[in-house]
Formats: sequence, structure tokens, C-alpha cells
Amino acid sequence: MQTSITRRSLIHCAGAVALASTAAGLLPKVAHAEAVSSDMYWDLVRHQFIFPDTAIPMNSANLCPAFQAVADKVAELSRLVDYDVSLNNRAQFNDTLADTRSKVAQQIGAAPEEIALVRNTSEANSVITNGLDFKEGDEIVIWDQNHVTNNEAWDIRARRFGLKVVRVSLPRLPENDEQIVELFAKACNDRTKILSFTECSNVSGLKLPAKKLAAMARGKGIHCHVDGAQSWGASVLNLHDIGCDSFSASSHKWFMGPKEVGILYVRNGRAPEIWPNTIGYTGEIKVELDLQNALKFETLGQRDDAAIAALGDTADIHTQIGPQRIEARIKEHASRLKQGLKELGATLVTPEDPAMSGGSWSSTFPNKTRKLSSTRCTRSSALPRPPAAGCDCVRTFIIRRPTYRGLWRASLRCGT
Ligand SMILES: Cc1ncc(COP(=O)(O)O)c(C=O)c1O
Repeated sequence: MQTSITRRSLIHCAGAVALASTAAGLLPKVAHAEAVSSDMYWDLVRHQFIFPDTAIPMNSANLCPAFQAVADKVAELSRLVDYDVSLNNRAQFNDTLADTRSKVAQQIGAAPEEIALVRNTSEANSVITNGLDFKEGDEIVIWDQNHVTNNEAWDIRARRFGLKVVRVSLPRLPENDEQIVELFAKACNDRTKILSFTECSNVSGLKLPAKKLAAMARGKGIHCHVDGAQSWGASVLNLHDIGCDSFSASSHKWFMGPKEVGILYVRNGRAPEIWPNTIGYTGEIKVELDLQNALKFETLGQRDDAAIAALGDTADIHTQIGPQRIEARIKEHASRLKQGLKELGATLVTPEDPAMSGGSWSSTFPNKTRKLSSTRCTRSSALPRPPAAGCDCVRTFIIRRPTYRGLWRASLRCGT
């Protein structure tokens, strides 16, 4: 039976819902209404954010807007803490913390005790670069497209402890997963202690076969660390299935959650071999090194209880929309965007094959040395100069189809 929901009423309704901080309840109802087309559904999702209709959030893949309901929750709970900072009042957040950890863990195929809620990907990567024991001459294999926190961070570690960092370069368009795995495998030897790579590059947008690389590393007894900053919230994740030893990500990217919250996953059994970076007091955990799981990396002192609680709400919203649905939408939009850029004369740096890329993309224009990457596009305002390099990350699943025309035009202007 057809319902009488119209696009206008949906958007009106969505605005009201977002203001009331209860985005979670409406989306599934709408998703099941037969009269609602896919575009109408995504319009509704898009209206869970406060950025103006004329704007396309682009910022070189590092920060994205939070769902309004999430931002409202942070504000609301911050007031609750500021109203009464007593331990008694704050005790209510202990349950919320456990609840958030469980929701996040379940969504990414991990056990709750394998997840440390940290500040961001940078902090999570630092636990790995600083926490593993090395001896002089040990080797570290990384992808040359890793983010600085998983790239130069290793050079600093190597200088301090006499290690060798081996960087693997890949062709712009690898032939297949096997070629990628082979190139990494060739770089590993019996001195290699860790293989550390970004799953989806913030430089080129190329996506690596994390599961196959983890299997190769495991076969050689090498720790496998995956930087998932561009994966969490954009792809369906199952960390047990991927089989990596550790994984890092930030909530303020594709997950569209609270700022300054991130995750460090450490596979059960691996935590005892990793030293914590920060030894803080949490009220409950006093002897950090006795902990045999990822909670050992979460003794970070006083936390922003409100942001951590709101992370659980973000997980609820993702569950309601559905990670599969989000991934499919991102793939569909990224493909259309790449096609549009090509039609405008751009050369794609990011592979067109959806299996070898995520939502982030990078392209160049003829006779231009700079890669296209703007910080913010609006139809009316002047565009800033693009940074010298990098990948852009339009949160493609939340923008509407017509917006692409503006984006393509804007892209062309960025390239001139
Ligand atoms: C692949 C990758 N790793 C790590 C980071 C660092 O993330 P954060 O600044 O949230 O710590 C980024 C940021 O854009 C990134 O793209």
C-alpha cells in the first residue's frame, strides 16, 4: 500500500526530528514506506545535518560534520556534567561507556574488550608505533601512501631505536589484489616485525585488500596494523574476518560522529605485547599493565563523557541506515562523481574500479601540477585555492544528486 509521504513533508519532518535530537526513530519508518524513493530517503538522511543546502562539505578527507542529533547529544550531556561534576553524577557514564564500546565493537566485528576508545586515528596509530618492542635492526614495512601518523612516525621511531623502514610503492592502477600482496610480501623478510598500511589511501583513494595482506603477514608471523581512518563508517567492516592485529580510526570522519573520539582495535591476545602510551587514572583501572586487552590503552585520564556517549548514538544511526546501504550509496556516488570529473577533462588518480577505491577521490587536470582538492565548495562563494596534494572526501552518501553539477563546475574552477 502506498503511503502519502511527500518529499517536502519528509524534509520538514526530518528537520523537526533533528532538532529534537531523535534522528534514530524516523529513518527506519521512512525506509520501509513504499512511496519513498531512494533519493527521498537520502534527502532525509542529508537533512540530519545542519550544513546549508548550497554547501558540499569537502575537506581533504580529514573532518566531516556530525549528525545534528549527535552534536546535540554532546551539548546536552556536557551540560549535565557541568551542572554536577560529582563522581556520583559522572558514575552514570560508566554504563554509557560500556554500552558505546559494545555497540561500536559489534558493528565492526570485534569483541568489546578489543576496542579502546581513544582520541583519534593519530593517537591510535601512536600506540602502535610507540608500543611494540623492537630491537636494533628490526624492519618495518609500510605503504608509501600511509598518513604521516603511520609513515614519518615510523622514521622517528626508527631513528631512535636503529630500525629500518621499508616503503612499498604500488602502481597507480594495480593489476589485481595478488599483485599488491606480492609487492608487500617481497618487502618482508625474517627481520620484519610489522606491516602497517592505510586501507583506503587519503592520498590517492586507492583501497588495499586488507584481508589478503593480513593473511600474508600472519603467515610470516608479522604484526599487521591497518589504518582505517577512511574506512570506518564508509565500508562494512568485520575486523575478525579481516584478521589484522590492530586497527585505528576516527569517529569525526566517515562515521560522522563526535569530534576527538577514535578507536584502537587490538586483537585479543596481542595487547600484552604492546606498551601503553599514556598511563592515566580512570577511577576503575589502577594497574594498567595487568590488563590483557585493549582497555589497557584507554587509561587516558579524564574523558569527555558526553562525546563518548554520543559515539554510541552515532553507532545507532549507522545501524538504522545500515552499513551495507551506506557503502552501496558511497560506491554509487563515487562512481558517478569520477565519471563526471572525467567528462570535464580530469585525469583520475583514484582507480575507477569500486573494489579498488572507497569514497575519497583525487584527480588532476591537464597542464596542472596541482591535484584537485578544495576545502569547501559552495555554489555562491569563491573557492579557496586547493592544497598542493591530497585526496578529497565529499561525504558522498549524504549529498544529493543535483549537487554534483555544482561540484563538477567547482572542480573545474579549482583546476584552473
Ligand atoms: C588515513 C588517515 N590516517 C590518519 C589520519 C589522522 O586522523 P586524525 O586527524 O583524526 O587523527 C587521517 C586524517 O585525515 C587519515 O586520512
